[in-house]
Amino acid sequence: MRRLRELARRSRALVIATLMARNLRLGIALRLRPAKPVLLGARNRGFSLEQSLACVDWVFADYERRGLDAERIHGARILELGPGDTLGVALRLIGAGARQVVCLDRFATVRDPEQQRRIHRALSESRPRSERERLGRALSPDGALAEGQDALVLIEGTGVERAQEAVAGRFDAIISRAVLGHLWDLAPAFEQMDRLLEPGGAMLHKIDLSDHGLFERSGRGPLELLTVSDRVWDAMRRHTGLTNRCLSDSYREHASALGYSAELHPTRLIGDAGDLEGGALRRAGRAGGRRRRARDRAHASAAAVAVSRALRRRPGGRWVFMVASKPGSPAAPGGRRAGSR
Ligand SMILES: C[S@@+](CC[C@H](N)C(=O)[O-])C[C@H]1O[C@@H](n2cnc3c(N)ncnc32)[C@H](O)[C@@H]1O
Repeated sequence: MRRLRELARRSRALVIATLMARNLRLGIALRLRPAKPVLLGARNRGFSLEQSLACVDWVFADYERRGLDAERIHGARILELGPGDTLGVALRLIGAGARQVVCLDRFATVRDPEQQRRIHRALSESRPRSERERLGRALSPDGALAEGQDALVLIEGTGVERAQEAVAGRFDAIISRAVLGHLWDLAPAFEQMDRLLEPGGAMLHKIDLSDHGLFERSGRGPLELLTVSDRVWDAMRRHTGLTNRCLSDSYREHASALGYSAELHPTRLIGDAGDLEGGALRRAGRAGGRRRRARDRAHASAAAVAVSRALRRRPGGRWVFMVASKPGSPAAPGGRRAGSR
C-alpha cells in the first residue's frame, strides 16, 4: 500500500487526478455544509506550545521588519486576512497597542479550542505588563476571547473579495500571510481592500508563490505547476484552495493600478530551503533584477525555466513580501509609511 501511495505521488497524472477528485468532494461537502471547518490554515495542528509561540513571534517580527512597527500599530485599526487556526498575531498587535484587530477568513479553519486557549494564555504571560494589560481587553483569564469584547473580532465564512458585506469602517493597515496566493480573482480582492483602507494606510502581504509541495514533493521542478493548463488547474483548486499561480508582479500591478506605491521583497528564492534573513535579506534586496533572475534560473530545472520563458514573465521568488502604501495622509497616530526603511 505504501509503495502504491509512493507511486501515485510520483505520477504527475495521478497527482492531478487526486486533486481533481478532492476538489469535487470538497465542493459537494461545502455545498451541503458551508461552514464546514477545513484544514487549510491549520498550521498549529501537531505543534507544541513552544512551536506555536515561536511561530507567532516570527510572523509578528516579519511584519515589524516590513514597517508595521510600534508607531504604526499604536491606536491603529488593523484587518488581518486569513489568520488560519490561531489569533496569536492579532493578539500580539493588540498587546502592541492596536485599537482593534478584525480577522477575516473565507473558511472556518479546523482548530483545537483548548490548544488555542493555551497559546493565548502563554502568549499573554510572556509579554511585559503593559502588553498584558492591553491583552486583558480581549482575553478572559482562561485564554478564551472575553465575552462582549470587541478588541479582537473574528469573522469566518467571508472572503476578502466580499469583505465589505461583513466588515464596516476603514482600517489603517491590512495584513496577511500565505493568503493572497489562494485568492480566486485578484481584482475584486484588491478593490475591496482599497475601499477598506484609510488614505495613507498600508498593505503588508506575505505571498506564497510555491506549489505548496504538490509536485515538488515528488521531486519535480518548482515551476512544474505552471505547465498544467488553466482549465485543469481550476478543476484542481476551486475548493481545495490550491495556489492561484499568479506571478509576483501581478500583485504589484493590481496595487499600482489603484494608485499605490508598491514594493515586492523576495524573502525566499526558488531552490532555497530557508528564508533570507539578516545579511542575506539585505543582499537580496540590493541585488538587481538581473542577479535575482540569474539565481532563480540556476536553481530551477531546465524544463521549468523553459516554461517561465515561454510565459515571458519572471517567476521571482518563491515567497515575496509586498508592501503597498495608499496615497494620502495617514490618520494619526502613526505617520511613517510602512516599508520605507
Ligand atoms: C495557508 S493558510 C495561512 C494561514 C495563516 N495566515 C498562516 O500563515 O499560517 C491560508 C488562509 O487563508 C484563508 N483564505 C483563503 N482564501 C481566502 C480569501 N479569499 N479571503 C480570506 N481568507 C482566505 C484560508 O482559509 C486560510 O486560513
